[in-house]
Amino acid sequence: MNLKGLAKNRLPGHVAIIMDGNGRWARLRGKGRIEGHRRGRASVRTVVEMSRRLGIPYLSLYAFSTENWLRPKEEVHALMDLLEHYLAVEQPKMMRHGIRLLAIGDKSRLPDAVLRTLEHAVRATQHNTGMTVVLALSYSGRDDIARMVQGIARKVRDGACAVEDINEEMISGHMETKSIPDPDLLIRTSGEMRISNFFLWQIPYTELYITSTLWPDFREAEYLEALLEFQRRRRRFGRTDEQIGEPLRSVGRSQ
Ligand code: IPE
Ligand code: IPE
Ligand code: MG
Repeated sequence: MNLKGLAKNRLPGHVAIIMDGNGRWARLRGKGRIEGHRRGRASVRTVVEMSRRLGIPYLSLYAFSTENWLRPKEEVHALMDLLEHYLAVEQPKMMRHGIRLLAIGDKSRLPDAVLRTLEHAVRATQHNTGMTVVLALSYSGRDDIARMVQGIARKVRDGACAVEDINEEMISGHMETKSIPDPDLLIRTSGEMRISNFFLWQIPYTELYITSTLWPDFREAEYLEALLEFQRRRRRFGRTDEQIGEPLRSVGRSQ
């Protein structure tokens, strides 16, 4: 891999990706949408492998939103099949590379076979320490927030905490992402300028990177470009340039 100026000590600690544009990729080639999803898997492999090699500790992939259940039955079915197959095929590789798999989202809506394969992969990889891949499946940021409110409300009702105890840390601790740091970089492919109900609470100071590249075309060179762009950003977290000081210290996971 030619890293062309990438600073290894200033990589994001957590990259999140909205993997969009499979349908358009296929339509442009006169193929069905499913073929786009099939091709998208190679891009998933690329970003997982590259993140692992670079030493990026967390990679979150938005694979299926709550709203995606509204798509035609055949497409949902094909996506679930692809997912199950992907998990089964990738599990040995995750073990070899020390990758831990986590899943967030409303798993109760997943078909039994997918759920079984997913739970198997999560269990098998739970002690791996090389890197964490977070799959967002049947996930929605608002749903995550609603469940967090339920969890905290229950504690208040049961007398486990007072209303005045509720703070940002407690809220983060009740989100599905409780064991995961906030993303430093959020990538969206296919050019759409929106979050589409992905992480909402978790991205207050996340750097956004939107590229018109469609997901099946997002490979090593495109990922590298996103990481290079991240390293060019100046993260101020509300402070002034003078307070931040030397630009090179303004990015990366330690800030
Ligand atoms: C992303 O590609 C995959 C999922 C949302 C599951 P799309 O299927 O949304 O592709 P476009 O946006 O129609 O091109
Ligand atoms: C976002 O893509 C969801 C995933 C990539 C899983 P969509 O294609 O569903 O988003 P919208 O509908 O264009 O906002
Ligand atoms: Mg889309």
